[in-house]
Amino acid sequence: MHCTRNVTADLIWVGANDRRLAMFEGIYSVPNGVSYNAYLLLDDKTVLFDTVDKAVQQRLFENVTAALGGRGLDYLIVQHMEPDHTAGIVELCRRYPEMTIVCNTKTHGFLKQFFEMDIDARVQIVKEGDVLDTGRHKLQFVMAPMVHWPEVMVTYDATDQILFSADAFGCFGALNGALFADEVDFNRDYMDEARRYYTNIVGKYGVQVQALLRKASGLKIRMICPLHGFVWREKLDDILAKYAAWSTYTPEENGVMIAYASVYGNTEKAAEILACRLRDKGIKTVMFDVSVTPASEIVAAAFRWSHLVFASTTYNAGIFVTMDAVIHDIVSHNLQNRTVALIENGTWAATSGGLMRGKLEACKDMRFIEPMLTIKSSVKQEQLVEIEAMAEALVGSFGG
Ligand code: FEO
Repeated sequence: MHCTRNVTADLIWVGANDRRLAMFEGIYSVPNGVSYNAYLLLDDKTVLFDTVDKAVQQRLFENVTAALGGRGLDYLIVQHMEPDHTAGIVELCRRYPEMTIVCNTKTHGFLKQFFEMDIDARVQIVKEGDVLDTGRHKLQFVMAPMVHWPEVMVTYDATDQILFSADAFGCFGALNGALFADEVDFNRDYMDEARRYYTNIVGKYGVQVQALLRKASGLKIRMICPLHGFVWREKLDDILAKYAAWSTYTPEENGVMIAYASVYGNTEKAAEILACRLRDKGIKTVMFDVSVTPASEIVAAAFRWSHLVFASTTYNAGIFVTMDAVIHDIVSHNLQNRTVALIENGTWAATSGGLMRGKLEACKDMRFIEPMLTIKSSVKQEQLVEIEAMAEALVGSFGG
């Protein structure tokens, strides 16, 4: 049995949800599941935009069969080769021998790397600006390299002003019957997951996302159809504004994210006291125990907040393991333009502060609050003034 929804009169969502997946890409927890979106256009020619992950591909086949209503499938447009969107290609080729695969040169090469099948005869190579005329619809291809793989392209339906955006504008979370972002309270229930998705999957490639946004700004877009999450047909400016901030590493909110690693609670205590002093001064704070909160949530929060505090005990003469992993992740995702304060703890040789700073200095435009706070085993009464001074320095760095 099929389960589809109409996006427009002749465009049908034929994707599937996976609520059993524990870790997306083996890294990112998806407690609310994930959707793999595919879209079928029923024009004079029939066109499928991408496929789905192998875990749910049977549902795609059932949906496509039903939506086609006995027609054949003329085109499969492959916008992104990552296997969560291409697992169904081999079986589609078998089911629809007349189907042409539309992709760019790089995708063609990747197809042959992933799948051992002879596809050359059925591939139609496209490049920037090429248009596929399917009857009423004119589908224009826009290259989006490194958003977040090199072969990525998006497709603009100039007829209905729809942007098929590949992974861009995606979101974690299964679609629980709703297909459109305006059918849910997106800001309340999904924005955090959209941010976590963007920052962790695409966040490293802000320059390339900016390039795509510039291209998109030259198009009249009425609707955005991503490969994960909801279709955007209202308030597109809201999500575009988020992408503008995220891709330029501009903080969304003034406030302090405090991430701490604490074995026996003493480093945590220092972080807690700092948070209280900041709140005393009217500064928003959020706190994460890096040994408890998944790194992907902390990376997302680091993109969200203007000021970051990292507090770590010293462990094996280095940064505590889970903090080391989080900082590695933040640096790898190219975060920039933040004000940072550091707290280190060590019973006999505190080294974690300097080591954290050394790693974070690899990020562009990081401003460090001086001095860092060093505690020996536990916070002492006389150090409260140092924590107060750090809070004052953080407040002062907010400016006017
Ligand atoms: Fe959803 Fe980059 O694959």
